[in-house]
Amino acid sequence: MANEARGKTESCIRPDDPRYKELKAYIDSVRGQQGINIMVLQEAQRIFGYVPLEVQKWISLELDDVSVGELYGISTFYSQFNLTKQGKHKISVCLGTACYVKGAQAIVEALQQHLDMEVGGISDDGMFSLEATRCLGCCSLAPVMMIDDDVYAKLYDTKQIPEILDKYYLAAELEEKMESEVDA
Ligand code: FES
Repeated sequence: MANEARGKTESCIRPDDPRYKELKAYIDSVRGQQGINIMVLQEAQRIFGYVPLEVQKWISLELDDVSVGELYGISTFYSQFNLTKQGKHKISVCLGTACYVKGAQAIVEALQQHLDMEVGGISDDGMFSLEATRCLGCCSLAPVMMIDDDVYAKLYDTKQIPEILDKYYLAAELEEKMESEVDA
């Protein structure tokens, strides 16, 4: 059961998903413009949160003369695009050489254990997605983990990880509370 829930990277956007209507309206508004392929992929990611292959196939049909291969090439070239569903917060652990030799693998293992998830997956509560990256360009801070734009440097002690993650849970709780107060 736990294994089924782990590492949920598969997509499940149904062909009748109403968000396609929103994307279609956008495509109609930019039809004929230069750079439309990347613009549409960006809008699709804004709407769906990621651009899985079935969304790219749909876009390809909508744009007539654009192949799925072209869209796939763009979406894999630019790091701004996610092909799989992402958590609310993206955790990136650097597995470049400097970080690896200083124990980055232990960070990955601690995260996997604490969140019961695999690299490339998202946590059951949808809060975090986890990825291993190449050098982040700050090797003097190794081993490095990033959560969104927050950098956690020299993370030798993996016991800090639950505390770090709790900050994001707390922020989400506060956000939810403020939203419910506004709605009330
Ligand atoms: S190897 Fe991790 S920041 Fe360079």
